[in-house]
Amino acid sequence: MRGIIPLVAIACTLLAGSMVAGAIESSDFDDPAVCKGCHGEIYNQWNGSMHSIAYTDPVYLKEEEMASRETEGLTDTYCARCHTPVGVLAGEVPPIGHENLSEVSKKGIQCDFCHSVNKSTGIGNGAFMVSLDGIKRGPYDDSKSPYHGSMFSDFHTKSEFCGMCHEVYHPVTGIPIEETYTEWKEGPYSKTTQCQDCHMTPGVTHFEANPGKASGIGPERDHVYTHHFVGGNAVVTGVIGSEVHQRMAEERLKSAATLELEAEKKDNEAGITVKVTNIGAGHKLPTGLTEARELWIEIMATDATGKEIYHVGGLDSDGEVDTDAVMYRAVLGDAEGKPTVKVWEVESTLSDNRILPKEARVEKFNFAIPDKVKGPITVEAKLNYRSASQKFLDELFGEGAVVAPVIEMAGAEGTVELGKAPGEGVPGFEVLFVLISLLVVAYLVRRREK
Ligand code: HEC
Ligand code: HEC
Ligand code: HEC
Ligand code: HEC
Ligand code: HEC
Repeated sequence: MRGIIPLVAIACTLLAGSMVAGAIESSDFDDPAVCKGCHGEIYNQWNGSMHSIAYTDPVYLKEEEMASRETEGLTDTYCARCHTPVGVLAGEVPPIGHENLSEVSKKGIQCDFCHSVNKSTGIGNGAFMVSLDGIKRGPYDDSKSPYHGSMFSDFHTKSEFCGMCHEVYHPVTGIPIEETYTEWKEGPYSKTTQCQDCHMTPGVTHFEANPGKASGIGPERDHVYTHHFVGGNAVVTGVIGSEVHQRMAEERLKSAATLELEAEKKDNEAGITVKVTNIGAGHKLPTGLTEARELWIEIMATDATGKEIYHVGGLDSDGEVDTDAVMYRAVLGDAEGKPTVKVWEVESTLSDNRILPKEARVEKFNFAIPDKVKGPITVEAKLNYRSASQKFLDELFGEGAVVAPVIEMAGAEGTVELGKAPGEGVPGFEVLFVLISLLVVAYLVRRREK
């Protein structure tokens, strides 16, 4: 019951937020298909992105429904504000679901919404404001279109634009639920690299120019921002059949981190040192939906015959990551201090060991070398990513109905030689060379002395 009182306040806080914009109808916004006529390439990049399905995303819809049920509707406009901004601005939510939603509102975070934003009231919880003057705001100060007015907007070129939504906090307790903007702001990239540089250019981990035309009927430009908005989601992009976005998400994950491995034998134990470095993400690794995302190290060791002698970080029979694995994640807590994935219940952050931008983490593992094992031992390490745990998906869709693939972001290999114990065997060439040289020197010295 304790959770209910703050939830009443959510409704009040958010009602105030959505009324700022005044009377808005969804027909004030053009469908993306209209923009497609002259911005075909940008449309194709956006279509199939997580933004394009922010409201129809089956994972979102399930969780929104659960939140609404458990709070008696108090989270309806709160959740929908970032997932269907047009739907909320136009007052089509509540109810949640598609009942009252116009076609344009179902298009999630779309062209005309983003390019009608003219300012924000700050960072987080959907702090956007829109202007209905028909003027499209963007990065050019010399842009002319036969269809719409154009205006330069410095705001659109900055991370603060993305930070309106990529920063989610509980509207009453203020506990951070998603903090991608702050993670970026407090990290080393905020001086040099905006979200747009990594997420709206082919560079992935840095700005890279993409020369071409922003519109088939416009001039050649030195750089046109791409609109794939790819993160780490290779699950839903796959479910909706967006192969390009799915492949790009996998590639992006593989550019984010490196893994180095050292293996050695100490008495009867193998010692393994693994170094993970966040080389490419401008925020923590992982970021975003932190109550669900999983990032962990898997280690496997096999003997010369291929027999497994050590394995940590594999999946158990329920599809859960083995509890001994080193996992990088944030765990949110409810009023009783128990871990929860239901963000509306969140009253504290229990732990957060995610990897900061450019940070390196060193992890040590060791295991006993079994007697009479045939060497050398091969050790393989992997850095794995999964969009959600099986438990999270089971809770939303029922047991085993949806399975998130495990994506290997980085890998490394090493060997543990079992060979000779110290002191055994033939002296090396270097030792012989030094011995012979010493003898020659001694002989020459003796001759001189004579
Ligand atoms: C009839 C063709 C046409 C249609 C339809 C059209 N645009 Fe444009 N738009 C253009 C042209 C041409 C430019 C100029 C491109 C340039 O300057 O490189 C442009 C420029 C832009 C810019 C850049 C503005 C700036 O100053 O940086 C944005 C943003 C934009 N359009 C958004 C949209 C959106 C959103 C829609 C759909 C609601 C849309 N456009 C529909 C032709 C069109
Ligand atoms: C999440 C918000 C968002 C959505 C959705 C979005 N855009 Fe953009 N768009 C931007 C931002 C931000 C920039 C400028 C990036 C910068 O300058 O750093 C931009 C740039 C542009 C430009 C200028 C040329 C370029 O690409 O640099 C055009 C034209 C444009 N967008 C059209 C569209 C169209 C058409 C759609 C829908 C198919 C669309 N946008 C969807 C945020 C968005
Ligand atoms: C109106 C709110 C809003 C704005 C503004 C916005 N986003 Fe998003 N973004 C979302 C939501 C909501 C999702 C998740 C949709 C889903 O998963 O169903 C998302 C998803 C994404 C993803 C995909 C994440 C993944 O897991 O694959 C990326 C990348 C992204 N946004 C980047 C950006 C960038 C860069 C900007 C600024 C140019 C931006 N967004 C602006 C709300 C927004
Ligand atoms: C230096 C490049 C870089 C910058 C700057 C950057 N990102 Fe990312 N982003 C990445 C990479 C690489 C990944 C894939 C690894 C991961 O999931 O964290 C990613 C992943 C994401 C995801 C998906 C996370 C998940 O696992 O669900 C979101 C959402 C996102 N970024 C949003 C943003 C926003 C918003 C900003 C600005 C505040 C931003 N990014 C700045 C490189 C960058
Ligand atoms: C301030 C804006 C904002 C609010 C409010 C918000 N979200 Fe989101 N949501 C996002 C962003 C941004 C992402 C993308 C992060 C990522 O990909 O990791 C996202 C992603 C998600 C996802 C992941 C979808 C997927 O396919 O992986 C779910 C589920 C979700 N939100 C549910 C909710 C629910 C339920 C609520 C209300 C209790 C809510 N959101 C409120 C911005 C918001």
